[in-house]
Amino acid sequence: MHPRTCLTIVLAAGEGTRMRSPLPKVLHPLGGRPLLEHVLTTAMLAGGAEIAVVVGPDHAAVAATAQRIAPGAQIFEQSERRGTAHAVLAAKQAIARKPDDILVVFADTPLLRPETLTRLRAVIAGGAAVAVLGFTPADPNGYGRLVMRGGELVAIREQRDASADERRIGFCNGGLMALAGEHALAILERIGNANAKSEYYLTDAVAIARDMGLKALAIETGEDDVRGINTKAQLAQAEAVLQDRLRSAALEAGVTMTAPHTVFLSADTKFGRDVTIEPNVVFGPGVTVEDGAVIRSFSHLEGAHVGKGARVGPYARLRPGAELGADVHIGNFVEVKAATIEAGAKANHLAYIGDARIGAGANIGAGTITCNYDGIAKHRTDIGAGAFIGSNSSLVAPVKIGDGAYVGSGSVVTKNVPADALAVARAPQTVKEGWAKRLRQIKVLGKKKPAKPA
Ligand code: UD1
Ligand code: MG
Repeated sequence: MHPRTCLTIVLAAGEGTRMRSPLPKVLHPLGGRPLLEHVLTTAMLAGGAEIAVVVGPDHAAVAATAQRIAPGAQIFEQSERRGTAHAVLAAKQAIARKPDDILVVFADTPLLRPETLTRLRAVIAGGAAVAVLGFTPADPNGYGRLVMRGGELVAIREQRDASADERRIGFCNGGLMALAGEHALAILERIGNANAKSEYYLTDAVAIARDMGLKALAIETGEDDVRGINTKAQLAQAEAVLQDRLRSAALEAGVTMTAPHTVFLSADTKFGRDVTIEPNVVFGPGVTVEDGAVIRSFSHLEGAHVGKGARVGPYARLRPGAELGADVHIGNFVEVKAATIEAGAKANHLAYIGDARIGAGANIGAGTITCNYDGIAKHRTDIGAGAFIGSNSSLVAPVKIGDGAYVGSGSVVTKNVPADALAVARAPQTVKEGWAKRLRQIKVLGKKKPAKPA
């Protein structure tokens, strides 16, 4: 048997005005990635490569994001918001190719899981023309109600169009639907807009399919799967659900977390074996932590790679491009950006390492700063293997410190330092014997404004 072909239509034309943000609703981040990316990733896992994204006018950013995540995605524009069926029909060209299954998903429903879509597709494979994802919300207000008879779905009634009896139905439309590709276009083109909102409702596909002698079924899922996002409060609730899922997956994979509810993950955070994460750590997007590494409390990581056995924090900040080799130590109040720290190197306290390479086993003293920016451009600092940078040194980039070289504390290094050399770049110390004692004697003599001793 051939694998069934599938077209997923993602409706991303939402206006999102209740988010009170210039950012299109479906580009708001959840678990560090846009809502749209969650839905597209799920669609690719469950449906495959053929994806159509329906965007609103002036949504170039939404289209660009869709194509970045799903490079083959076809973009269709719905120029006017005239209802969910109208939006689906924007992708008519793709529907007309008659894939076996058509999935319709909303881009603002990011918690949907691939297995839920797979279940919907199975209903179509089993012979139904329409499959609807139902759920029983705590409060059904506002949702379309699923009217069931004899185990089959006979209609979906939108709240505004529902009778008092229908409004008492607790089983609601989650908004997702699968259609048999063979019949989809015929069904969709029959949908009219004679309803309370004068919109073309996708939900009418159910009654129309039945009129055509076809079968419609509903399956049930949990509320989280179909949680839609219209407000920042709903975005925060969805984030909480997603964080719980990510934490559970990390624990399941063997990550040790003593207070998982205080650790914030991104959807793409990757952990090796036996990683330990102390309380209150934030992982932005793009972080990989390898086997045996320990991330201590109050650290913030983003776009960073932490090698095997490395120790980060407490209070460390790894910014994009931080590449930590095996057994590296990055301690408290150390910030690393676009820098490779090779195996076994250490920066244990109060440092800024940006646009740099730190060779294996090098030691970066407290208060070391790579002065990478001159106000116009960024420059690189290269520190060789086994070098020792004394505390409170400023390394003015571009600059190279050779392997095994030594920089005296408090130096402002502006020139390259050869391997195994010592560089000291600070004012020489002056010592004045007895100076302090003389100062105290002048004070005792009671002069109003004592002159400082020579
Ligand atoms: C829809 C369902 C309802 C279900 C609910 C679940 C319909 C008619 N109703 O109602 O049964 O209980 O979802 O949350 O489908 N969209 C467009 N273009 C349009 C209209 C909508 O792209 O012209 C997109 C929206 O951006 C959104 C999705 O379709 O992503 C659903 O639209 P929305 O207006 O939120 O429908 P609901 O009233 O929530
Ligand atoms: Mg909605």
